[in-house]
Amino acid sequence: MSWDTVRLDWDGDVATLTVDRPDALNALNVATLEAMGEALEEAADDDARALVLTGAGNAFIAGADIKYMRELSAEEAQEWGELGHAVADALETFPAPTIAAVNGYAFGGGCEMALACDLRIASESAVIGNTEIDLGIIPGWGATQRLPRLVGDETARRMIFLGERLDADSAAEADLVGEVVADDELDDVAAELADRLAGKPAFAMRTAKQALNQGYEGSLASGLEYEKRAFASLFGSHDQREGMAAFVEDREPEFE
Ligand code: CAA
Repeated sequence: MSWDTVRLDWDGDVATLTVDRPDALNALNVATLEAMGEALEEAADDDARALVLTGAGNAFIAGADIKYMRELSAEEAQEWGELGHAVADALETFPAPTIAAVNGYAFGGGCEMALACDLRIASESAVIGNTEIDLGIIPGWGATQRLPRLVGDETARRMIFLGERLDADSAAEADLVGEVVADDELDDVAAELADRLAGKPAFAMRTAKQALNQGYEGSLASGLEYEKRAFASLFGSHDQREGMAAFVEDREPEFE
């Protein structure tokens, strides 16, 4: 399948989803969001073992498309919000680990797509923030919930209330990204991390991701109960038997 403003490229088992609308700094409109949803479905169906999300040119995603949004009624905005949330949810529940390779501006909905990924790497020139307050709105695709979980409540409130735009180093200091790399190294570093993730046992990886995600759905007690069941469910799997046999036999494991 091909889309006008989204590309899905493969390198072995690793899929890269690129938002490709550089004239608008990859701002997300309806067609782009729909294409992202389809591309994520395709990548999951084709068994991607890791997925990188990035932007074409020198922006990651400059947010939701303000030119499209500006005249929406509340009713239309509800549908628009649902569409953005659906894509963020598809990233969050993607059956393999996802990495946001933040290569430039990541504002508003762009920051929110990065927040829905499992891991974030920023290039030195990246600038990240939930800037919606200065448009007279609030984050609409998840940041009020996902941002404080990542950076803590105080920092999230400062960022959202003030519409702060953090440079890459400040974003790393705030734990908003895990790593900052030189601009021309971002693709390679993201690819290398994706390869490492793709080489891990897939069933255990998916189960670990589900257990981590589940922890945010309810109480600590329910998260711990979930972990107990998920942990036990891996026993008897090929990869569990093989991983432990390899340890005992002092050799490299051969995962399925
Ligand atoms: N929506 C629509 N178009 C956008 C856009 C956006 N979010 N961001 C940039 N563009 C467009 C510009 O309008 C411009 O188009 P034209 O050439 O046709 O005029 C083009 O991209 C290049 O942008 P600039 O000329 O502004 O480039 P710059 O380098 O001077 O500034 C910028 C870059 C700082 C990112 C600035 O464009 C900017 O502040 N953009 C808006 C960022 C923002 O507020 N994003 C949040 C949107 S709200 C949201 O996302 C809600 C939600 O939670 C769902």
